[in-house]
Amino acid sequence: MKGKRILLGISGGIAAYKCCALVRLMVKAGAHVQVVLTPDAAEFVSPLTLSVLSKNRVLSAFSTQDGQWNNHVDLALQSDLLIIAPATANTLGKMANGLCDNLLLATYLSAKCSVMFAPAMDLDMHEHPSVKQNIKQLISYGNHLIPAESGELASGLVGAGRMAEPETIMQHIVNYFDGDKKLKGKQVLVTAGPTYEAIDPVRFIGNHSTGKMGLAIATAFAAQGAEVILICGPGVQQLSNNSNINRIDVIAASEMHQVCVHHFKKADITIMAAAVADYKPAQAATQKIKKKGENLIIDLLKNPDILQDLGTKKTAKQLLIGFALETQNELEHAKDKLKRKNLDAIILNSLNDKGAGFGGDTNKVTFIFKSKKNKALPLMSKQMVAETLVVEVVKLME
Ligand code: CTP
Repeated sequence: MKGKRILLGISGGIAAYKCCALVRLMVKAGAHVQVVLTPDAAEFVSPLTLSVLSKNRVLSAFSTQDGQWNNHVDLALQSDLLIIAPATANTLGKMANGLCDNLLLATYLSAKCSVMFAPAMDLDMHEHPSVKQNIKQLISYGNHLIPAESGELASGLVGAGRMAEPETIMQHIVNYFDGDKKLKGKQVLVTAGPTYEAIDPVRFIGNHSTGKMGLAIATAFAAQGAEVILICGPGVQQLSNNSNINRIDVIAASEMHQVCVHHFKKADITIMAAAVADYKPAQAATQKIKKKGENLIIDLLKNPDILQDLGTKKTAKQLLIGFALETQNELEHAKDKLKRKNLDAIILNSLNDKGAGFGGDTNKVTFIFKSKKNKALPLMSKQMVAETLVVEVVKLME
C-alpha cells in the first residue's frame, strides 16, 4: 500500500466516526489519504481530526473559502482507489442514479480507478427493496461492495446495517493492492452475454444470458491490475469507466469468434463466460420474412465452437477456462467439455440449483480443474464467485 493514493469519501452517518481509525490504518500502511466529506458528514466527524490524521487538508465543497476550485476530475484521476465509507442510503441512491449535488458524488462520477463502498444504515433501511436495488446497481457498474455487518445499530436495533469495521475495510484494501502485484501486466480475455444469430433483419435466435457473470469476472480481474479485453454479446449492461477494461461489442458467434481469435494470441488468461449460440440460420433473409402457412422451417448451421478452437491454439503458458451450464448429469458433461476443449478449468453451474444461472445476481458453481481437486462453492453473489475465481487463477499461475 506504500505510496498508493487513496481517496476516502465519507457520507453523513454515525459510522463516520469509525473513519478516524480507518484513516490512521491507511496512513500507517504508507498510503497518501485524501478525505472528501459530504456536507452532512461534517456533523458526525470533525474535519480537523481527519485532517490531522490524514496529514492532508480535508475537502467538502466545490470551492474553498478563498474562492479556489476543488477540482473533482483531478481528484478522481489521480487516485489509485476511491472508498466511500460510510455509504449512507442517500449517497448510495445518488451514486446508483448518477445524481451529483456534492463534491464526493462529482468525484465518484469522474473516477476511473476502482471504487469500494461500505454501506451503513439502520436495519429497515438496509432491508428496503430500493436500497437493495441500488446496491445491486452499483455492483453491476463494477463497484466493489464491502458488505454491512450485523450487530447492534445506533438505533438500538440489532441486525444488518452496521458499517464494516475499519480493520475489515483495511483487509479489502490490502487484498486489492496485493493482488495488484500478482496480476499487473497480465492480459485477460473475457467473453460475456449471449450471441444473436439473425433470422431476418427483425428476428434472431438468442438466449437468456445477460452477461452479469462475465462483467463480474472482468471487473474482478481489472481490480487486481490485469488488462482486460471484454468481448460482450448484445444487451450486456455498460460498466462504469474502468481504464483496465477494454470492451468490444459483438453480435453473432462468428463475429465473437473472429475477435476472440485475434485477442487470444496475447492473452495470458482467457475466460469464456459467454453463452454462444450453437447454431445459426443457414441464410439470414435480407427482407423481413412474411407470415405464410402454418409452419416455418428454418435451416440451421453449426456455429464455430470458439472455446474448442482456442483450446487447439493454446500454448503451455496460457490459461483457458470455460463455463458449463448444464441441466442433467452435470459433473459428467462438464468434465467431458474440460477434456474435449483442452481447458485448464471449467466452471460448472446447473440450472437445477436455485439462485444459479441466467439473469440473477447470485450463482452456485463448482470449479473443475484439469490437474487438481474440484472446488464446490456455496450460493454466493456473482461478484464473490468472480473474486474467488481470481484467487484460483492466481494459484494456477503460481
Ligand atoms: N462455447 C463456445 N462456442 C460455442 C459454444 C460454447 O465458445 N459455439 C463455450 C462457452 O462460452 C462455454 C463453453 O463453451 O465456456 C461451454 O458452453 P455450453 O453451452 O455449456 O456447452 P456446449 O459446448 O455448447 O455444449 P452443449 O450445448 O452440448 O451443452
